Amino acid sequence: MTMTDTELAARFALAKRLAAEAGAMALDYFNRRDTLVIETKRDLQDVVSIADRNVETFLRDRVAEVYPEDGFLGEEFGFGEGTSGFTWVVDPIDGTAPFVNGMPTWCVSVAIMHDGEPVVGVIHAPCSNELFAAARGFGATLDGESLHLDPSRNLQNAMTGIGCNSYVTPERVGAIIAGLMQRGGNFIRNGSGALMLAYVAAGRLVGYYEPHMRAWDCMAGFCLVREAGGQTLDFPGTGEAFLQGHPVLAANQSCYEDLLDLHMRNL
Ligand code: IPD
Ligand code: CA
Ligand code: CA
Repeated sequence: MTMTDTELAARFALAKRLAAEAGAMALDYFNRRDTLVIETKRDLQDVVSIADRNVETFLRDRVAEVYPEDGFLGEEFGFGEGTSGFTWVVDPIDGTAPFVNGMPTWCVSVAIMHDGEPVVGVIHAPCSNELFAAARGFGATLDGESLHLDPSRNLQNAMTGIGCNSYVTPERVGAIIAGLMQRGGNFIRNGSGALMLAYVAAGRLVGYYEPHMRAWDCMAGFCLVREAGGQTLDFPGTGEAFLQGHPVLAANQSCYEDLLDLHMRNL
C-alpha cells in the first residue's frame, strides 16, 4: 500500500499532539504515585499500574476516533490489526520502574508503522518537558530544533546506553558491559530504553544496545535515530515476529559497527 506525504504529515501531527496529552496525563499520575497500586507482571522488577493502562486506553481511543482503520499495538492491551496500512505502536509509559520509584526518566513512546518500517516516532519525556519527534523524510527534532548526529562522537569519547531485563542472563549482561569497557567505552542505564533511544537521536548518547526488547519499546526511537542520521539493527516489522522480542541496537554511524560486533560476540 502506498503512503502519501499528506497521510503521513496528518498522522505525525496527531502523534505529537497525543504524545503531549498522554504525557500530561501520565505526569498527573506520577505526581500522586503514592496512591497507585503497583502490580507485577513477569517478575518483581516488571511493574505496572493503572497509569500505564489508562494512558494506553486514552491513546487507543483517540487514534480510533480519527483513524478507525489503522492498526494498534500497545504494551498493555495487545494488537488489533488495521486495514489502512498504518499501525500505531505505543508504550504508554516506558520506564515504569523509574516512574513508580519516583525518578524522572520515563516517557510516552508513540510510533507509526507503514510497510514494516517506523515512519513516525514521537517520545515525550514529561519530567523534563521534552518532545522528541521524527517522521520519515521530515527529519528529527527536539522541541522543534533539528537533530543531526556528530560523526566525531564515538564509543570512546561518549556514553553508550545499555539495557537489560530478565530475558537475558546476568552473565550475558556482564559480558556485554565488559566488552564495551574493553573497547574504551562506558555505559549508562536510566530504566527507560525508549528514552535512551531518544537520547541517541539527540546526541546525548552515542548508541543504545539491549539484547531483548519489544516493538513498543523501540520503534519510535528507531525512527528518531534514523532521521537524525544514525543506524539501526533490523527489527522485524510485520507478522508474528513483529510481536516477539528481538535485539535492539541504534547508534551514531561512527560506532554502529563496533556495537554490532559487541552484539555478535555476545549472542
Ligand atoms: C522497559 C524499559 C527498560 C528496558 C526493558 C523494557 P517498561 O520497559 O524500557 O529500560 O530495559 O527491556 O521492558 O517495562 O518500563 O515499559
Ligand atoms: Ca517499555
Ligand atoms: Ca511500558
